[in-house]
Amino acid sequence: MIQASSNAVIPGLEPTLPSRYYTSDAIFQLEKERIFCREWVCVGRVEEIPNPGDYLQLDLVGESVLVVRTRQGDVRAFYNICRHRGCRLALGAAGNPHAEAPGATGTFPGVIRCTYHSWTYELTGGLRSAPFLNAQVDKGPLGLYPVAVEIWGGFLFVNLTPEEAEARGYTLRSQIGDVMDYARNYPLADLRIGKRIIYDVRANWKVILENANECYHCGGVHPELCEVIPAFKAYGGGELDLDNGIPHREGAYTMTMTGTTNRAPFPGLSAGEQVNHKAHLVVPNVHLSFSPDHVAVFNIWPISVDRTQIVFDWLFHKDEIVKPDFDPSDAVDFWDLVNRQDWAICEEVQRGSTSRRFTVGYSAPQESGERSIRAYVSELFGGDAP
Ligand code: FES
Ligand SMILES: [Fe+2]
Repeated sequence: MIQASSNAVIPGLEPTLPSRYYTSDAIFQLEKERIFCREWVCVGRVEEIPNPGDYLQLDLVGESVLVVRTRQGDVRAFYNICRHRGCRLALGAAGNPHAEAPGATGTFPGVIRCTYHSWTYELTGGLRSAPFLNAQVDKGPLGLYPVAVEIWGGFLFVNLTPEEAEARGYTLRSQIGDVMDYARNYPLADLRIGKRIIYDVRANWKVILENANECYHCGGVHPELCEVIPAFKAYGGGELDLDNGIPHREGAYTMTMTGTTNRAPFPGLSAGEQVNHKAHLVVPNVHLSFSPDHVAVFNIWPISVDRTQIVFDWLFHKDEIVKPDFDPSDAVDFWDLVNRQDWAICEEVQRGSTSRRFTVGYSAPQESGERSIRAYVSELFGGDAP
């Protein structure tokens, strides 16, 4: 007797995105166009390019982008391609597969010179000189193709379709104003990277973001985390008060193995924020976890439909990080353990999703955070969802 099974509508459960959203290269290419080339996307921290000429070289879903500190001290971004014949301007380190991975940096010597025929650009993007053509050619229209940049809380965001964003008034605030308000007490601009680990995970970027946005899995997957925050496993993580913050166990107030630390809480936090845990999704590619003394940043970089890099930064207050006895290892070791538990289970979800038999899953009421990503993706695909 074969037991009945179907993808019927089940009262009390919502269907997830169809499994092809996690396995289809065609849908991944659509996400590139409609999400990562249209939305404001977080690409790092402004502290990574402190001096004039410093640049970040990024591979954003296959588009090579430069984020540059100008002589005037502001930040500009461009497609990493010469206007002459399309040669890339910054080449990245030969033989390093991560040469364009998140975090690759360098310094231009005051100008950006193409190695092919030496067309040379200002750090602000304008074409400065083209050998033997300077008298004949109007250089005005030949500046580097711009990418829009905005900075919030020390985070760099880029938009690869700046003309369209400007035409429809689509600013960073229109996209992530909710998290700007949510995090207003945290001194994000005064935080610095105390530790960065880049994880390479064989899972679709949405699997990872959805996992970060529900705690239905925490009881089973994260015993150490649930020791520090028992609410993560109570009721399947379904009654978390993220607005006011989630209490730790008695005597604990931060994300370390002991639940304590010798670092001071950030200045400006409310009484609740000094002892509770808060978290917020920053669509489309960041998840922020707020402890009183550090902020954990998951910055998600889709590489292919089934591979994602996660630049995980531990941010600490700039006054703490310069102390002689500053030691981030209590927060780093704790998160690294939790992260590896997450990435391992996400890779199993990815593997399972490729089964011919699995076409759609179900979302429990406790997984409302996971559903917010589904709603975001569905909305951007509009009425013509593939
Ligand atoms: S392609 Fe850059 S100068 Fe020719
Ligand atoms: Fe998790």
